Amino acid sequence: MHEDNTSRNIFTSAGDLLLAGVLCSQTFMTIKLVVILNQLNYYKPFSKIRAMSPTDSLRKDHVLIEKMINALRTMSTLLRNGNSIPPTILEQTIEFSTNFTNTCHHGKEEESLFPSLEKNGMPKEGGPIARMLYEHEITKTLTDNLRKSAELYISTHKSEELLSDIDKYINHVTLHLAKENQRLFVMADMLLAGQDETVTNDLENIEQVKLNSSKKTRKYYEDLVERITLQENSL
Ligand SMILES: [Fe+2]
Ligand SMILES: [Fe+2]
Repeated sequence: MHEDNTSRNIFTSAGDLLLAGVLCSQTFMTIKLVVILNQLNYYKPFSKIRAMSPTDSLRKDHVLIEKMINALRTMSTLLRNGNSIPPTILEQTIEFSTNFTNTCHHGKEEESLFPSLEKNGMPKEGGPIARMLYEHEITKTLTDNLRKSAELYISTHKSEELLSDIDKYINHVTLHLAKENQRLFVMADMLLAGQDETVTNDLENIEQVKLNSSKKTRKYYEDLVERITLQENSL
C-alpha cells in the first residue's frame, strides 16, 4: 500500500515535472512572441504604455448597451412575476435601442471600423465583417418586433409576445457583443495598431453626427439607462 502510494507520488511528480516543462516552454514561447510583436509595434493589447486602442470607443458603447440588456433582463423577470411595466420604460428602452444601438453604435462600426479593417486587409465578403453586418440587420428586425409587441402590451396588457421578443433581443445582442469583444475587436486592435488616434477621431466624429441626428447627447443615453434601472428597482 505504502509502495503503491510512493510509486503514485513519484509518477505524479514526474508527470507534474513534465507538465510544468511543457507549460514553461509554451509560456516562454508566448512571452517571446508577444515581446517580438510589441517590438514590431504590431500587437498593441499587450503594451503597458498603450494609452488607447482603436476599439476603446466601441467597447465603451458596449458597456452602455450591456447595461440596457441588464435592464431588459430585469424587465423580463418583472413581467414573468406578474408586475406591470410602465409605458415610459418601454418607450425609452426602444428609443435607446433604435437611436443609440442601431443608429449611433452600429453606424460607428459600419461607417468607420469596418471600412478601416477592409483598408487594412480584412475582406468584406465571407468573413467577420459580413457576419457582423448580417447580425446588425437581425438586431434591427428584433428592435422592430420589440416596438410592435410593446405597443400591443401597452394597449392590451398581454405580455406573452413582449416577453418572447425581449428574450430574443437579449440573446441575440448578448452574443453579438461577445463576438465583437472577444474576436473582432481583438483582430481590429492588431490590424489597426498604430492608427489609434485616427480611428478614434473618426469614430467620435461619426458618434457626434449620429447623436446630433437624433438630437441627443451621450450623457442623455447614459442617464436614460440609469433612470430605467432605478425605475425598475422601485417596481
Ligand atoms: Fe456590431
Ligand atoms: Fe458593437
